[in-house]
Amino acid sequence: MLFHFYEPFVRPVIFRFDPEFIHEMTMSMLHYLGRSPLSFLLSQKVAYKPVDVMGLHFKNPIGLAAGLDKNAVAIDGLGKLGFGFIEVGTVTPVPQPGNPKKRLFRVVPAEGIINRMGFNNDGVEALIRQVEKSRYDGITGINIGKNKLTPLEKSIDDYLICMDRVYRYADYITVNISSPNTPDLRRLQFGNYFDTLLRSLKSKQRDLTELHGKYVPVAIKVAPDVTDDELKSMADSLLRHHMDGVIATNTTVSRDAVYDMPHAYETGGLSGRPLLARSTEVIRKLHDILKDEIPIIGVGGVDSVMSAREKMEAGARLVQIYTGFIYHGPKLVKDLVDNI
Ligand SMILES: Cc1cc2nc3c(=O)[nH]c(=O)nc-3n(C[C@H](O)[C@H](O)[C@H](O)COP(=O)(O)O)c2cc1C
Repeated sequence: MLFHFYEPFVRPVIFRFDPEFIHEMTMSMLHYLGRSPLSFLLSQKVAYKPVDVMGLHFKNPIGLAAGLDKNAVAIDGLGKLGFGFIEVGTVTPVPQPGNPKKRLFRVVPAEGIINRMGFNNDGVEALIRQVEKSRYDGITGINIGKNKLTPLEKSIDDYLICMDRVYRYADYITVNISSPNTPDLRRLQFGNYFDTLLRSLKSKQRDLTELHGKYVPVAIKVAPDVTDDELKSMADSLLRHHMDGVIATNTTVSRDAVYDMPHAYETGGLSGRPLLARSTEVIRKLHDILKDEIPIIGVGGVDSVMSAREKMEAGARLVQIYTGFIYHGPKLVKDLVDNI
């Protein structure tokens, strides 16, 4: 009930302030409230809509996308809102500040966001400490990346370091090679780089399964700015290496859908409604090749039951939200879970 006030009353007030300032305030609030006796204030009852994907049991198919809780400080608070799964990160081996501020912009007329955060995070050790403390009863995914200063040829090492550290604590691991805000990162999606990366991840996963006596699925997160040929070759590699899942998509560098709008020409990745059509198209094309062999987690522009259904009809087994959550608040989570 309380969350019905978000869109008409809360959003107009907070949207007057700098987006990153509001983000930090909200994360602190969720951090402290989520672990306090007052955490019931965040509780939202949602329907039980169980689904099994990647060998994991999800209480519902609606998740929080990576990047909102980069340091995993608010899992408990966010969990109360009804998400079936929460993906924390992107986390890198060592802490890094990210790009200079300002680096987060609202494109309000299109209900979009442009960000060039650049993997600002407290590092993998700090993230693990937070995940360890969390009492969330849903699925926790940990999204891993490379440090900005690690050269591209050494980037696989960064992913393996992170994988090694988070393996015990993650229900699944996402390998982020699709952010537009780390120089050259997206080159890892193609050709030899991609094949070598997938081979190394699988071999690490085998070692860690033996060491910990638990199999943690590994999903690859892809960009929407790829040609059909590139998508086909990525899908073929994913099949060849028996990856556990694919997350489609990350933000786009295209500005076609926000032409001439405020902030439209800021550098960075565009998310939200302007991304919806393209990310759904990528899901459909991936699904045509992957069939039901590798599950797809759909993300990009979901802000209504209809858009979530579109993702599932295109082939997504699970759906994540980020920008829609910023524009519509916690009520969107309940709407999606109850009506999907
Ligand atoms: C401010 C911001 C930061 C993000 N940071 C990350 C990140 O660290 N890692 C990642 O894999 N995706 C990140 N994303 C991408 C989202 O997880 C998601 O793929 C994308 O925003 C599309 O979904 P949406 O339209 O529902 O926002 C970020 C998105 C935003 C808006």
